[in-house]
Amino acid sequence: KQTGFNAYDPGFVNTASTRSAITYIDGDEGILRYRGYAIEEIAAHSTYLEVAWLLIYGELPTQSELAEFSEKVRRHTLLHEDLKHFFSALPHTAHPMSVLSAAVSALSTYYEDSLDPRNPEMVELSMIRLLAKLPVIAAYAHKKSLGQAFLYPDNSLDFIENFLKLNFGNLAEPYQVNPVLVKALDRLLILHEDHEQNASTSTVRLVGSTEANLFASISAGINALYGPLHGGANEAVLTMLGRIRDSGESVSKFVERVKAKEDGIRLMGFGHRVYKNYDPRAKLVKESADEVLADLGVKDPLLDIAKELEEIALNDDYFQERRLYPNVDFYTGVIYKAMGFPTRMFTVLFAIGRLPGWIAHWREANADPATKIGRPQQLYVGPAPRPWPAGR
Ligand code: CMC
Repeated sequence: KQTGFNAYDPGFVNTASTRSAITYIDGDEGILRYRGYAIEEIAAHSTYLEVAWLLIYGELPTQSELAEFSEKVRRHTLLHEDLKHFFSALPHTAHPMSVLSAAVSALSTYYEDSLDPRNPEMVELSMIRLLAKLPVIAAYAHKKSLGQAFLYPDNSLDFIENFLKLNFGNLAEPYQVNPVLVKALDRLLILHEDHEQNASTSTVRLVGSTEANLFASISAGINALYGPLHGGANEAVLTMLGRIRDSGESVSKFVERVKAKEDGIRLMGFGHRVYKNYDPRAKLVKESADEVLADLGVKDPLLDIAKELEEIALNDDYFQERRLYPNVDFYTGVIYKAMGFPTRMFTVLFAIGRLPGWIAHWREANADPATKIGRPQQLYVGPAPRPWPAGR
C-alpha cells in the first residue's frame, strides 16, 4: 500500500506541475500568447531581445530599458580565452548540441563567485552572460565542425547580425549582413522563445528547484531539448525529407508506412502534446518559408516534399482522428537550410530561441514561495518482500 499518493500520470498529461503567468496556450483553438500578447502580433512587431525582456520581466520594455538591456548583452559577448581551448579538445564531428550543453555547463566554472541562485544581482548577471554568450558558443560549435577559425563578436552589430557574422563570416573577407536573413532569423527565434511547461522548460524548473545555479539548469534544459521528440525534431524533419527525396519513394507511400507504424517511424514535425489544431507558430513559419526562399532566390525540392506531405496528412483519416497537425518544427529546417546552416545546427538555433523562456521560468519558479524541490512520486510495481537467498 502506498500512502499520500493518488495519481498515476505518465508523461504528466493531466497534472499541472506549477502555476505560471508567462505563456498561455489553448491547444484546441491553436492560440499562443506570451504575457497576454498574441504570438502573431509579437512576431509582426517585436525583436528577440524585446521579447526576452517581456518574458523575463512580464511587461514590454520602454525604449531606454530595451537600449540598456541590449547594451548589457552586447558587453558580455566575449568568451574567456581559455574556454576556446575547450572546443579544441572535442572532435570536429561532435554534435553541436552536445558541445552547447557542455560549454554552458563549463561557463559556470568561470563565474564561481557569482552563481548564488538566491542573490538577485548574481542571477541577473548570469542571465545576461547566458543571453550574450550562448549564440557565440553556438557559432563556435558551428565553426569547429567546419574547421574554420572562430571570429570575435563584433559589438557594432546588433544581436542577430552579430550571430550571423560569427557563423558565416570569415577572417579573409568582410562580411555583408543580409537584412532578409536578419529579419527571418529574428522572427524564427521569437516564435521559439517560450512554450510553457514543455520537456526542456520543465527540466530547467526541476533542476532549478534543487537550487542549482542558472548555468547548470540551462545546460540540463539544452540536453532535454536535444531529443528528436522535442527540439531535435527540426533536424529529424530535414533528415526525413532528404531520405524521401533520395529514396525516390513517393510521398504517399511514405505516409502509408508512417500509418502502418513501420519500424516505429513517425511523421516528424507533426503532432503535439498540447495542440490538437494547427500550431499557430507553424502557420507563421510556413509563411516565412515561402518568403525567405523567394527573397534568397533558393528553390528547394525539400519544401515541395514538405508541402505535399502536409497536404496528404491533413486529408488523411489517421492524422485527422489523432488530431495531428504540423508543429513549429515542420518548416523551420527548410528555412535554416536556405540560410546556410547545416542540419546539425537546427536544434542549436531552437536552444538560442528558447533561452529567454527557460530563464523566465527559472526566475518565476525561484521567486514563487510555493516552489518546492521537484520530486515526483512513483507507483512501485517491483517484487513483494522476499528473503535473501540462503547461502549467498
Ligand atoms: N506521426 C505519426 N503518428 C503520430 C505522430 C507522428 N508525428 N505523433 C503522434 N502520433 C500518433 C501516435 O502513434 C499515437 O497513435 P496511437 O493512438 O495509434 O497509439 C497517437 O498519435 C498519439 O501520440 P502520442 O505519442 O501519445 O502523443 P504525445 O502527445 O505523447 O506526443 C509528440 C507528442 C510531439 C511527441 C508526437 O506527436 C511526436 O512524436 N511527433 C513527432 C516529433 C515532433 O515533431 N516533435 C516536435 C514537437 S513540437 C516542438 C517541441 O516542442 O519540441
